[in-house]
Amino acid sequence: MKIAVYGASGYTGRLVAAELRRRGIEAVLSGRDAGRLRETAYGLGGAEVRPAGAEDPHALTTVFRGCDAVINCASPFTAFGLGVVGAAVAAGCHYVDTSAEQEFLAGVFERFAGEAQRAGVAVVPAIGYDILPGDFVAHLAGTAIEPVEELVVAYDLNNFGMTRGTLRSAYEMLNGTQLGYTDGVWNRSPRPARRTAVRFPGETDEAPVMAWPGCEVVTVPRHVQTRNVEVVINAAAATPEFSQLLQAPPETAARVIDALPEGPAEHERTAATFTVLAEAVSADGRLARALIRGYDVYGSTAVMAVEGARRLVAGGDRTGVLSPAQAFDIADFLKFLSAHGFSYETQVAASRDSITAQA
Ligand SMILES: NC(=O)c1ccc[n+]([C@@H]2O[C@H](COP(=O)([O-])OP(=O)(O)OC[C@H]3O[C@@H](n4cnc5c(N)ncnc54)[C@H](OP(=O)(O)O)[C@@H]3O)[C@@H](O)[C@H]2O)c1
Repeated sequence: MKIAVYGASGYTGRLVAAELRRRGIEAVLSGRDAGRLRETAYGLGGAEVRPAGAEDPHALTTVFRGCDAVINCASPFTAFGLGVVGAAVAAGCHYVDTSAEQEFLAGVFERFAGEAQRAGVAVVPAIGYDILPGDFVAHLAGTAIEPVEELVVAYDLNNFGMTRGTLRSAYEMLNGTQLGYTDGVWNRSPRPARRTAVRFPGETDEAPVMAWPGCEVVTVPRHVQTRNVEVVINAAAATPEFSQLLQAPPETAARVIDALPEGPAEHERTAATFTVLAEAVSADGRLARALIRGYDVYGSTAVMAVEGARRLVAGGDRTGVLSPAQAFDIADFLKFLSAHGFSYETQVAASRDSITAQA
């Protein structure tokens, strides 16, 4: 099995390349800068390097040809990601990425559904910590009590240090067009979050939460019969510095981000923990919850992206553009993740007040 990593010289790309090495999967390192790719290959103890610019679809297709899958980690995805998807499909490769940008994700579903099917490949964007677990838990909670009236995916993050790449993507996303899913339709002017507080399991108090332009808004209505989808994050995750950065003009924000360290050091990275909780309420008032807990946002993203790409190549029977919950056997993928320190549970109750642990 041979898998290309596009953006292999970045913080996440290097983790993905290292994970491929750890899994014994042959990696092709690609990206715009040959020198940085060679450095990455050297750090790994050797790997094939094939440079190509994101703006050159012909060169990209040539680079991807002969690979079984492409893992795209180059960002911002909204800026040039669609070209990388197109080249992967044209080269006959399965495709996954670490994006979490709504506009890009919606564009992938719109543009490549038919093309990917005709090429006999699967395209599964947003396969990192954000949003594979969120898409999974939303499916588990939602399908337990369909039809769903209100589905909320809530993120609780601790000790999370963002990379420069994440900050650039977050700036684009939070200052760009945001998508909502309300009363059964997608819209470009989402309402303010209805949920302003969430009690995360294991906590005694409710935590204040704020709306987040999560990609579950794009994916979940494709596999759960629901009228509303909302994504929120623990408000404590938005530090004053982060909020200030979001309000800065683009040139100032770019300068500030460029001057920051590339991303958290390994000991800081692995100290990050997260809970992703989905709460679904049916029209007749039943409640279902599912949650996943994990750690190391960037390291686990590499684990999920490599395992996802590997499964697409090994399985090979699903084609088109798919969300993580549509592409994979959820129970089996979660079993795999539990060997990497993830835990998960699902609960269904007759009403909001009588939730009973089921697993
Ligand atoms: N969803 C999740 O859970 C999750 C988890 C991890 C990361 N991510 C996302 O993954 C993305 C990458 O993050 P990161 O921390 O790895 O960022 P990073 O360290 O800044 O790496 C960005 C990569 O993109 C490449 N790149 C930038 N502009 C390019 C262009 N115009 N043409 C071609 N390549 C270009 C860079 O190439 P050079 O090395 O040549 O500059 C580098 O390889 C971000 O969007 C981040 O939010 C998401």
